[in-house]
Amino acid sequence: MEAMNVVLLLLFPLFFTITIQSSPKPSLSLPRFVNSLRQNSSNETIDVPAPEYFEVTLPLPTDDATPACSVNVLSDSFGNTSATTGINVCYTPPNATCEWSHAVLHYQAEYKGDQYESIAGVWMDGVELLRTSTAQPTEDGVLWNVRKDVTRYSSIFTRENLTLSVKLENLGNGEFTGVYQVNVSLLFYSDKAVRFPVSVVSGESEAQPLNRKLISDKTRENKDKLELDRVLKSLYPYEKSADLIVPISGALDEGHWFRIHDESDVRTTNVQIPPTTYKAVLELYVSFHGGDEFWYLNPPDSYIQANHLPTGRTHGAYREVLVTIDGKLVGTVIPFPVIFAKGINPLFWEPVVSIGAFDLPSYDIDLTPFLGLLSDNKIHSIGLQVANGISYWLVDANLHLWLDDSNVQAIVKYEDPTMDIENEFEFEGLEGKFETEVERKTKATSWVQSSSGLQKTKVTQEIIFKNKLKIKDGGTTKQLEQKIKTTTKIKMTNGMGESIGKIQMEKIYPVMITIQSQPLADKNATLMTTSVVQRRSESFSNKRSSISRELKHKQNCTGSMLVNGNSVNGNSVIGGSVENHQSYEFTNEAGCYSRKVDVVDGVVIADETMLVCVD
Ligand SMILES: *[C@@H]1O[C@H](CO)[C@@H](O)[C@H](O)[C@H]1NC(C)=O
Ligand SMILES: *[C@@H]1O[C@H](CO)[C@@H](O)[C@H](O)[C@H]1NC(C)=O
Ligand SMILES: *[C@@H]1O[C@H](CO)[C@@H](O)[C@H](O)[C@H]1NC(C)=O
Ligand SMILES: *[C@@H]1O[C@H](CO)[C@@H](O)[C@H](O)[C@H]1NC(C)=O
Ligand SMILES: *[C@@H]1O[C@H](CO)[C@@H](O)[C@H](O)[C@H]1NC(C)=O
Ligand SMILES: *[C@@H]1O[C@H](CO)[C@@H](O)[C@H](O)[C@H]1NC(C)=O
Ligand SMILES: *[C@@H]1O[C@H](CO)[C@@H](O)[C@H](O)[C@H]1NC(C)=O
Ligand SMILES: *[C@@H]1O[C@H](CO)[C@@H](O)[C@H](O)[C@H]1NC(C)=O
Repeated sequence: MEAMNVVLLLLFPLFFTITIQSSPKPSLSLPRFVNSLRQNSSNETIDVPAPEYFEVTLPLPTDDATPACSVNVLSDSFGNTSATTGINVCYTPPNATCEWSHAVLHYQAEYKGDQYESIAGVWMDGVELLRTSTAQPTEDGVLWNVRKDVTRYSSIFTRENLTLSVKLENLGNGEFTGVYQVNVSLLFYSDKAVRFPVSVVSGESEAQPLNRKLISDKTRENKDKLELDRVLKSLYPYEKSADLIVPISGALDEGHWFRIHDESDVRTTNVQIPPTTYKAVLELYVSFHGGDEFWYLNPPDSYIQANHLPTGRTHGAYREVLVTIDGKLVGTVIPFPVIFAKGINPLFWEPVVSIGAFDLPSYDIDLTPFLGLLSDNKIHSIGLQVANGISYWLVDANLHLWLDDSNVQAIVKYEDPTMDIENEFEFEGLEGKFETEVERKTKATSWVQSSSGLQKTKVTQEIIFKNKLKIKDGGTTKQLEQKIKTTTKIKMTNGMGESIGKIQMEKIYPVMITIQSQPLADKNATLMTTSVVQRRSESFSNKRSSISRELKHKQNCTGSMLVNGNSVNGNSVIGGSVENHQSYEFTNEAGCYSRKVDVVDGVVIADETMLVCVD
């Protein structure tokens, strides 16, 4: 074994490039799972339907309802060339006679072709509605459905002459040879159709044997309308959808998103907001690719240089998306590390994709405190950049504005955000230990005089980022332990100094990743042992109206895969054996929804939904 370790270093000096699978042409005919229960593909003459992949998420309260009306916006396919240009269609709003209060975007996709990974977005006149990534196709292709509540964008759906665009971007080096079929429709529901608490729906693969149980602790049929309203309206900051949404995005021919290549790449958009604006929220969409797809696993430059590693995955592990107004920093986001279809171990994500892969989270930055700066009827520049970023990030934003009947007076009191960063690392050869800790604090207060009186809003935010990366065993083992915690507090008081609201939001995103590689010289391949334990926890509480809601989504993936070991960049998965265990819990004052899904070697062995939560 010692002798082989030496061979390993010679064969695989680029441990960092092994963590991503970027093969343009893997062998599709090989059994993907060593212990596969669905190996019966030896003689397929019948047309096997593409399996459906899915993300474990909360069913929408509209899922079982009949829409009041719907608009099929797009039904098209991406071929070779359109994959880089995108599809643009004219959007026709729903009939004016249609009464609706909730809107749902339904995105259906089917892909047939080589293993291929891409990121996609859906925009309406530059306002982003969805950021989504693609699933890995099987021999029979793959299909998936994303349903997203887009009520917050209601103000644009009634407008005429808008362009809806879908852009798909290839993330691999390979040539795009497949066919990617996309349908986009908008479903509009009336208040009456919205059911609460969340109903149990099955939107998953019909091909997989599901073991679904429903346990209901109480019957909640006679939901009081008042409570329904209260729950639906507790979705801060979009209790009521904005009156106007201004896109902070690029040109249509660039696909609307800003492609950010490094820290100095600051993208600005000039905006002039109506002086009647009494509330403003910037919603940020962000995804990371290329050298920064796994930014949280990147070692510092000195390590890369000392070991002469020809990899672009550098610059350490600190990244932060910065939002500026006229060059002044007003808010920051450290995003949830979404793992795409080929990430860490591609076998993990079949057919249940990783947290957020089909509906990447967006991030809200309350800009109400900055209305004193923005609402003077002058042009202001909103800037987006990625601190410490390397190529490339796809970033854009929607500026949601709520308007009053008459002009609003606003004053801002603002302190420059503070930031502490600590880097500590030591390494010898390929082995080392790297630690990064960041603490960011933002504070701003505004006084807004509108038709509803004087309101003082104080927003404070604290972001704590801790990243610990260990590289051991001659560079063949990599261990990450990371936690991102964002706490936002909003306090509102009226002109008399009385409290009119207190909101607290907390987002906790821990992740642990282990990647171990062991060369099998006789097989001309490498055995990679991998694990991902990740959680997305988000809670919201409004003490005054005793509203609280909490989301806890966990995934625990373990397993190994054999990758072709002939070339460092051209490696591909030969096969493997994996498990993916996910649990999802959503609680609010009306009840709880929980779902547990267990996947072994690409087969869903258990899928249980309950209306009770265990912990
Ligand atoms: C393949 O599937 C067919 C039909 O489902 C079944 O009759 C056959 O026994 C299977 N063959 C193997 C090798 O599992
Ligand atoms: C597929 O079927 C053909 C004809 O039925 C047979 O000759 C061939 O051996 C089969 N191939 C495999 C891989 O089973
Ligand atoms: C895709 O592009 C390649 C090279 O650009 C070309 O050879 C091939 O014919 C194209 N395929 C289709 C379906 O357009
Ligand atoms: C809109 O709805 C009304 C009443 O249902 C109907 O008469 C009219 O034809 C519809 N218009 C369109 C463009 O569908
Ligand atoms: C798109 O819609 C068409 C027509 O309804 C349907 O035949 C097709 O299967 C849909 N495609 C996807 C990917 O769902
Ligand atoms: C939509 O565009 C057409 C043609 O450009 C124009 O005639 C029409 O007035 C526009 N409608 C609206 C509501 O702007
Ligand atoms: C993850 O799953 C493995 C088995 O698949 C188990 O041994 C381990 O304890 C789990 N870790 C967590 C954090 O749940
Ligand atoms: C490893 O496999 C590749 C093809 O996958 C081949 O080109 C190469 O020569 C093999 N190397 C050894 C040492 O067998």
